[in-house]
Amino acid sequence: MPRDKSSAGISAVLRAVQSIDEIMEGVPRDMWSEFEEGVRKLMADKQRSFEEEGEDDGGEDVRGGKKQRLAQVVNPYEKMQEIKFFLRSRVPMEAVLPSENILYEHKGTEFESYNTVNTLSVDDFLYEMHEVDELCDEGKLPRHYCKDCGSRSVEKLNFITHSLSIRELEFVFNSVLPTRCKLKDATVLDVGSRLGAVLFGACLFGDVKEAIGIEVNKEFCELQEETLKAFKMSGRARVICDDIRNSSELLRLSQVVVLHNPFQFFSSKPSALEALRSIFSSLSKGCLVVACPSLDEQLSNCDGAASEMSKYGIEEQKLQYPEAEEEDDEHADDDGLLFSNIRLYKVS
Ligand SMILES: C[S@@+](CC[C@H](N)C(=O)[O-])C[C@H]1O[C@@H](n2cnc3c(N)ncnc32)[C@H](O)[C@@H]1O
Repeated sequence: MPRDKSSAGISAVLRAVQSIDEIMEGVPRDMWSEFEEGVRKLMADKQRSFEEEGEDDGGEDVRGGKKQRLAQVVNPYEKMQEIKFFLRSRVPMEAVLPSENILYEHKGTEFESYNTVNTLSVDDFLYEMHEVDELCDEGKLPRHYCKDCGSRSVEKLNFITHSLSIRELEFVFNSVLPTRCKLKDATVLDVGSRLGAVLFGACLFGDVKEAIGIEVNKEFCELQEETLKAFKMSGRARVICDDIRNSSELLRLSQVVVLHNPFQFFSSKPSALEALRSIFSSLSKGCLVVACPSLDEQLSNCDGAASEMSKYGIEEQKLQYPEAEEEDDEHADDDGLLFSNIRLYKVS
């Protein structure tokens, strides 16, 4: 290697280290391990795209010999894990942004007693329950809240999630949908796409033709775009910053629509009901709707009638749920079945 090339390389490395040093100033000490993990992932990605570019140009490998054709075997589960770590470094631990106002007005539902004092958001896509436990053990997340400040009278916090977990996404795109539609030809639309978990699942587990997220929060839209770009999925997935009530045409053109409780913690009951009605009336015949929780529950959470669904020709489809292998599986219901809060519907 020529001497000047080598010294230019060393200067570049020194400059990069200096920049990292400056960036580190802004990273809290207790998040250094997450930072380190993020940098390592970034390096791995850079290395991978460097190798991919080398493959595309049909030329010689810069390291000298004939370029090696690397088998492009993407393990979707591993990729999802990489995305999860990438996003962890981009949002607060609760994955709720300052621009958001989480609403607690859930009279008559299982969340009736939940409020800002006794409830903490933890994102199932970013942290599985055992990881939340670890964070609590390390003192990074609280487990309890003080009932009357200063005393030892404490109560367990309620945890709520605003994203589907990687395992739930794998169930949806590997087990629920493939037997019912050709995902390769399908447009999947996620109502309220937030971090983009459904979009990533649709591309990696489902290998869908196209995944579209509609998200009303601008910051989340920007984060999804950044993530899709970083993981080279922008060609197949995109996000639109808008209210779903303005998206009837996209809903009409979608073969699969995902409704993961988009409104309960984010909209007033009347707007939630209006949005659900507008969605239902826009769906095309044959469209599959993946809901979590059931549409009955989503409607009743916003004071709508479950019977309305028949008006729109929406019929529930029977699903086979796998049995949990471990008794304390966080996704198991009382009968030991996994993912039973996920439901499937078809528009007739
Ligand atoms: C429970 S999160 C769903 C996350 C994502 N679909 C998933 O399963 O991982 C609901 C999201 O819907 C968004 N949202 C609420 N009302 C909306 C509306 N009218 N139009 C578009 N997005 C909306 C919220 O900002 C929030 O990010």
